[in-house]
Amino acid sequence: MPSTCVVGMQWGDESKAHVADLLAADADMVVRYQGGNNAGHTVVIGEEVFKLHLVPVGVLRPGKLAVIGNGVVVDPGFLLEEIAALRKRGIEIGDNLKLSDRAHVIFPYHRSLDGASEQHRGGGKIGTTGKGIGPCYSDKMAYTGIRVGDLFNPELFQERLASILEVKNFLLEKFYGVDPLPFQEIYETYSGYAEQLKDYVCDTQRLLSQSYQAGKHLLFEGAQGSLLDVDHGTYPYVTASNGSACGVSAGTGLSPKCVDSIVGVLKAYTTRVGEGPFPSELNDEVGQRLQQKGKEFGTTTGRPRRCGWLDLVACRYTVDFNQVDRIALSKLDVMSGMDPLKVCVGYRFDGKLYENFPADEKVLENAEPVCEELPGWQEDIADCRSFDSLPPQAQDYVRFVQDALKVKIDLVAVGPERDQVIQC
Ligand code: IMO
Ligand code: MG
Repeated sequence: MPSTCVVGMQWGDESKAHVADLLAADADMVVRYQGGNNAGHTVVIGEEVFKLHLVPVGVLRPGKLAVIGNGVVVDPGFLLEEIAALRKRGIEIGDNLKLSDRAHVIFPYHRSLDGASEQHRGGGKIGTTGKGIGPCYSDKMAYTGIRVGDLFNPELFQERLASILEVKNFLLEKFYGVDPLPFQEIYETYSGYAEQLKDYVCDTQRLLSQSYQAGKHLLFEGAQGSLLDVDHGTYPYVTASNGSACGVSAGTGLSPKCVDSIVGVLKAYTTRVGEGPFPSELNDEVGQRLQQKGKEFGTTTGRPRRCGWLDLVACRYTVDFNQVDRIALSKLDVMSGMDPLKVCVGYRFDGKLYENFPADEKVLENAEPVCEELPGWQEDIADCRSFDSLPPQAQDYVRFVQDALKVKIDLVAVGPERDQVIQC
């Protein structure tokens, strides 16, 4: 059975979870490989709306195994709350959830440092979700992280936490001027979390490798988006992990050979939450219309998302570095009633035309989008279930994007529900 990776092609919030949930029907396991509870993954099943942050969407389908891989950063208190909230709503969570013993743990000092460093950046802030993601990954890279498995080794945990907390508290108190955090309380709380999570914890690398070799179908659920990828995104306005397909191998312990196909999820227009360059942004009533009609407010923080036209310069880049095999185009229904539509096909800066996505922050910040105009349509398309039933202008929009990206669009979403999709 092939394995599939679902990855966001823009700055997150592309409806990855809608697509991942549909593909999960044919998968045995759904695996998160990076990010943490900065993600907000919404799945609509009939009247029920599930907003998942850390638990893979696989838990919503009976018989599927949900795996939180080693590349994810885990806030254990948050994870326990998410599990409890799902259980309350009748979702069974037990043997169907596995958590890597190698995943790094988010501590209260990560959250404090996230907030304090954002404040310190002032006008140059990133606009993080404040969940402690960047500080936790920083510690992982600086050899000062604590992993899920370490919580089960009291001596090691105590020693490591004490030595790390000494430095963090110095920074919090002396540099940022915020309250230090109490060792004993953190130690006891986290030991308690470990006890509650112990049945989920295992060597997920081994589990995934054995499952892959046994022919199980693995679905990798990317979080954030390719343009927020720490290596390939709009640095420093990114998140601290590899949310592109590049992250699967490091975040699971599977060889890159094990990812058989890549599904790119592309929103029919562009959104971004937080700071950073956004060449096709619309700071006008058209942008506001996309925001209102598309309900573009953050699932995790509630912040309004910035909106703009589809940016094919950026998407050609993300299609390329992910080597996307097929595209799922989401939220096409939001474009109904807008005429004309525009699509950004190039950037102009300093007299130069850019057709390839540049790394230079100065170019991205100041680029004028070069747009092509396409005719819009007035009809509500939420009930369309076949490509032919879409208005001709909507069909042309899909074909235009497909031709520009040279990748087949084989799924179009016209609403958030499981059945609001068109297979093309
Ligand atoms: P899903 O998986 C959109 C953004 C934040 C900020 C930057 C860094 O729902 O698509 P962080 O807290 O990660 O250090 O913040 O990344 N960001 C997201 N934007 N969707 C997400 O996740 C995001 N997760 C983080 O807004 O700009
Ligand atoms: Mg989201």
